[in-house]
Amino acid sequence: MLDFSDGGQRLLRDLIHERTGIFYDDGKGALLAEKLSPLAIERGFASLLDYYYLLKYDESAGQEWRRVMDALSVQETYFWREMDQVRAFVDVLVPEWVRDNPGVPLRIWSAACASGEEPLTVAMALNEAGWFDRLQIHISASDASEAAIQKAQRGSYRERSMRNLPDELRSKYFTKDDGALWNVDPALKRRIGWSTVNLVNESDVGPLASVPFIFCRNVFIYFSTETIRRTVGVFSKYMHRRGYLFVGSSESLFKLTNEFELREVCGAFIYQVSKQGTVSV
Ligand SMILES: C[S@@+](CC[C@H](N)C(=O)[O-])C[C@H]1O[C@@H](n2cnc3c(N)ncnc32)[C@H](O)[C@@H]1O
Repeated sequence: MLDFSDGGQRLLRDLIHERTGIFYDDGKGALLAEKLSPLAIERGFASLLDYYYLLKYDESAGQEWRRVMDALSVQETYFWREMDQVRAFVDVLVPEWVRDNPGVPLRIWSAACASGEEPLTVAMALNEAGWFDRLQIHISASDASEAAIQKAQRGSYRERSMRNLPDELRSKYFTKDDGALWNVDPALKRRIGWSTVNLVNESDVGPLASVPFIFCRNVFIYFSTETIRRTVGVFSKYMHRRGYLFVGSSESLFKLTNEFELREVCGAFIYQVSKQGTVSV
């Protein structure tokens, strides 16, 4: 493994922070070096400082950043995760939405979907409640990691992803192949539009954020306070007036923004765009 003995830790850390939102504090230099060393060595570098110069200045940096994003992406996720929020969404917020917006399609964005378990969970829950028969629904799902999105598009999952999924849903929406993989029903997978989007790029985020419901769970834990503040600022700028933002149960926007207010819905905590300072799109 390469190290930062020739300097460059701060330079690389700050560049990664700027381009991905992910922040490695001073205590996590070794972790950053461990994740990036294989990429630097593969490119023939003996130093992470040289790799920094490639990422910062080289013409081929665009391609290299895609590999960096895949290397830094922590895709820990599973079906039926943090279901109190999904239930509150399906049982309370969707009926509210339908009542207040008759005839308008329901649009949802899963903004850091990793290998797709979160948007597929939302789709299953909506289907179980019969909403696909009653309502036009558009689900978009994205992640900054191309490798994650390719995996989501394949739709094959290991047992680990299935650990929280009730048995009856497992047999209804998945078939087990000869290996150890569970393949999701193609019809469910087709309900979702997949893309690669980096949350720090406002021009990419804007069009997807123009929805009433954003799931952005368990990604802010990797971001700096500054990046979270900027990201939720961009969400609120484009989101539907009084739209809802779901963050992970260990994440909080407390003292970070006054553009969202916390609402309790059936025991689940969900952020809603505040009445003041929002635009409707
Ligand atoms: C732990 S997973 C969360 C998956 C899912 N939302 C959940 O709660 O189960 C975190 C995901 O955030 C993605 N991510 C990290 N930085 C990102 C960024 N700047 N833009 C979009 N996605 C990002 C990672 O690639 C990873 O797939």
